[in-house]
Amino acid sequence: MSDETPTDGRRTADRDFEVDLDDVLDDEDGDEGLFDDLLSGEPIFENKEVLRPSYTPHELPHRKDQINNMATILVAALRGETPSNILIYGKTGTGKTASAKFVSQELEKTSQKYDVPCEVEYINCEVTDTQYRVLAQLANTFIEQNRAFVDARVEELEALRDEAESDPAALETGGSDDVFAEPDEPDDSADPDGEFEELRKRFDSVADIEERIETLHEEKAEMEQVPMTGWPTDRVYATFFDAVDYVERVAVIMLDEIDKLVEKSGDDTLYNLSRMNSELDNSRVSIIGISNDLKFTDFLDPRVKSSLGEEEIVFPPYDANQLRDILQHRSEVAFKANALSEDVLPLCAAFAAQEHGDARRALDLLRTAGELAERDQSESVSEEHVRRAQDKIELDRVVEVVRTLPTQSKLVLYAILLLEDNGVHNVNTGEVYNIYKTLCDELDADVLTQRRVTDLISELDMLGIVNAVVVSKGRYGRTKEISLSVPVEETEAVLEADSRLSDIENVTPFVQARFDN
Ligand SMILES: Nc1ncnc2c1ncn2[C@@H]1O[C@H](COP(=O)(O)OP(=O)(O)O)[C@@H](O)[C@H]1O
Ligand SMILES: [Mg+2]
Repeated sequence: MSDETPTDGRRTADRDFEVDLDDVLDDEDGDEGLFDDLLSGEPIFENKEVLRPSYTPHELPHRKDQINNMATILVAALRGETPSNILIYGKTGTGKTASAKFVSQELEKTSQKYDVPCEVEYINCEVTDTQYRVLAQLANTFIEQNRAFVDARVEELEALRDEAESDPAALETGGSDDVFAEPDEPDDSADPDGEFEELRKRFDSVADIEERIETLHEEKAEMEQVPMTGWPTDRVYATFFDAVDYVERVAVIMLDEIDKLVEKSGDDTLYNLSRMNSELDNSRVSIIGISNDLKFTDFLDPRVKSSLGEEEIVFPPYDANQLRDILQHRSEVAFKANALSEDVLPLCAAFAAQEHGDARRALDLLRTAGELAERDQSESVSEEHVRRAQDKIELDRVVEVVRTLPTQSKLVLYAILLLEDNGVHNVNTGEVYNIYKTLCDELDADVLTQRRVTDLISELDMLGIVNAVVVSKGRYGRTKEISLSVPVEETEAVLEADSRLSDIENVTPFVQARFDN
């Protein structure tokens, strides 16, 4: 393990880097290249990678209880029993994925140490979001393992056969009753615990061994990978089922972002997985579901709900002090000594604590602040860098949300923006709708009803892009007053970058004219 620590890896990478760099710089004698300025600054980071979301920390402060809780449940797998299913809840950035991955690594490590057949299969359901894909991915993983298992077993058998060919006494007979039965039982011969000594008791003759090798080859040939689409779901499920059950094992299936799977494709997958154990002969399946949405079980079939939620573990949000500890641990590896001024970590922690205690946000902030300091060629990261990092991350989020809006929502937003641009604040739905219609005309786009546009405005409100408050207009009833919650210039730039909307740049005078009326 120790030679894999990021610091070591980084040092090696750095050395290689420097060698190449010297060559490059020599070639460019005297010329101030694009990267010279950036390089001459004292680097802030020692190892930036440990601040990225992809890095799995080996130490997880303030998650001891949750980790111990998981381990206590999963230890059953190491005793060859079926662990209870576990449901893990908590908001984003509360360390669910990191903790679960840490526990599964430890579990697999221990299972190898004691030679117990136990595996964890991790699936991110935000990426793998249909029953077909989940089952296919699982089936293919197990098929691959089974093939490797068959290869290893065939190798052993061939060695035994070669030995027996030169010395028939190599096959000592075991219990006389079993001798004929055993070699043909696939589950027995597929026992991954089988020691070589055990193996030789099972076979009477070279011919027996040959036969078994032949059977294994045939079985391997039948292990067909599931294609990414096209099979009926029943067949995918059956293939997965056979693949798991091919050898004795406990398979822990970890479904991360399980709420996304249920939202997109219902609870069939969970239903199928949770009722498997009663039908499996050799193996056992246990499920760990991880959800960001605390209420997602409301959408589950009651049977699935009770089976999946046998054990529930909650990951509460971190408070500012806990976030500071987490950042402290990481920053020691991530930054050069003295690269952080005193208030940097507390400020990152405080900002992230406001974001529902999100450790991911805290780490993003710290990394971004470091990058800004590096860009400034500062000696160290300051409080000011953290504040700018906070603005930058917030703006990046807005840009991303706006960029991915459907065209109709973009048009509605653009209408609000044009009004704001022309000095009209706190507009009402009717005003927005009028401009929206003009924009649609310009673009030959479908014109939605005012009712639909009102809905789209509510959506924009929920996304935090506009702020819509209902105000009473006395006897004229109630209306919505809409204002932008995002910076005008940047938002406009994002909207105008959309090829469909770029045609309407010249609408402003027209909009102006409407107001003059
Ligand atoms: N207790 C902790 N100690 C160290 N790092 C943590 C801790 N909790 C979360 N993190 C880090 O914060 C980020 C988000 O954590 P993650 O496990 O992905 O959250 P979740 O899955 O709950 O959304 C990851 O980079 C993770 O390594
Ligand atoms: Mg996660």
